[in-house]
Amino acid sequence: MSNTNHIPREEGIDHSLSLMREGYMYISNRRHSFNSDIFETRLLGKKAICIGGKEAAEVFYDTEKFKRKDAAPNRAVQTLFGKNGVQSLDGKIHKHRKAMFMSIMSADGLKKLTDTAKKQWALAVDKWQQMDRVILYEEAQEMMCRTACEWAGVPIQEDDVKRLTKDLAAMFESPAAVGPAHWSGRQARNRTEKWAGELIDKVRNGKVNSPVDTALHRFTWHRDPEGHLLDTKTAAVEVINILRPIVAISIFINFTVLALHHYPDEKKKLKAGDEKYARMFVQEVRRFYPFFPFVAALAKKDFTWNGYKFEEGTLTLLDLYGTNHDPEIWDNPSLFRPDRFADWEGGPFSFIPQGGGDYLMGHRCAGEWVTIEVMKVSLDYLANKIDYDVPDQDLSFSMVKMPSIPHSKVVIQNVKKRI
Ligand code: HEM
Repeated sequence: MSNTNHIPREEGIDHSLSLMREGYMYISNRRHSFNSDIFETRLLGKKAICIGGKEAAEVFYDTEKFKRKDAAPNRAVQTLFGKNGVQSLDGKIHKHRKAMFMSIMSADGLKKLTDTAKKQWALAVDKWQQMDRVILYEEAQEMMCRTACEWAGVPIQEDDVKRLTKDLAAMFESPAAVGPAHWSGRQARNRTEKWAGELIDKVRNGKVNSPVDTALHRFTWHRDPEGHLLDTKTAAVEVINILRPIVAISIFINFTVLALHHYPDEKKKLKAGDEKYARMFVQEVRRFYPFFPFVAALAKKDFTWNGYKFEEGTLTLLDLYGTNHDPEIWDNPSLFRPDRFADWEGGPFSFIPQGGGDYLMGHRCAGEWVTIEVMKVSLDYLANKIDYDVPDQDLSFSMVKMPSIPHSKVVIQNVKKRI
């Protein structure tokens, strides 16, 4: 008798279209219908195994079993990630590069970031008070671009802010897009890598001064395990790996406004200075709303997990959205309830909006603390420091388009600073 379990299989030649049609729910729908946290399918012409849930996340982040090199689809490499960045590395080289990222995430570094974010929020609010309507998604992107550049030590001329904001946003808006929207993401990446590469060369030639302890300085002078500086292009990809995702926090800022609007009772609980509830609220926004649907890796070798056989090289997708809504982990997952985080002890594999596992040894998001801190600053502004109206608009959001943002991009009016 065989000791292996049969992996339920979705019949058919290819299911990439179903993935595009069902978006964030693609893996969850099949986990539900197969009544299994694992199933096999075919995506982009290849066999793929999809897994979800806490145990699945645990095995996915086992670096003895999975690797990242060549796992990401080319369309994501050409737009979202860039080539030879930390996302594509494994083993010792990954750990060394990741340490470079984590070195700027110190308590001191995060304090400088929150001070910068507060300053940029204050400036933005001054501007928004003069505007008839504020399209929050666009305004928040620009505010985040300014925050990111200042924090990362990247000098930027006022005339270039809008272009850079648009380019950084195009990189995370375009990986799953088709046609011109996708190609503009590729062009944005090429343009931004060129600009960031020139900047790094200028720092190396002493023509631009980069303050110590900033990402620009650290990444420019980072040495690989053999003692070599990163080549200019790779250093540029890594600097963009700081700037781009900070701009992407604008998506969570949009969802924060949505949550405040749709759950006024939760808003009432957000008293100025109540750090604990603010953090719970932020965590629930990150759990509840769609952002990254899944992450991809390749089986590093043949192995068996829970009786299921994985063959070396098999593309494997971990369901992030579905794990954050898994009824085995979350009580009433479809309710927005920040208090579920009051005494959260779920560990590193259950709550995975930005990946799971360990920061240094694995691929968990390097900017998770950055995201939480910037969201807390933003929430404090939105709930305690300003008043605004949310006029009638289409606040619905797609569960198919990735990344999802409310259709109206969240319009607010009559923004006023509270005295
Ligand atoms: C805006 C909200 C964000 C979301 C939803 C998000 C989500 C993610 C996800 C899902 C991963 C992949 C995890 C994996 O491969 O297992 C990741 C990786 C990463 N993120 Fe984020 N992220 C966000 C913000 C940030 C910020 C603000 C930064 C930097 C300041 C950042 C930097 C990175 C880096 C460098 C990686 C690659 C880590 C590695 O491969 O070891 N992210 N993020």
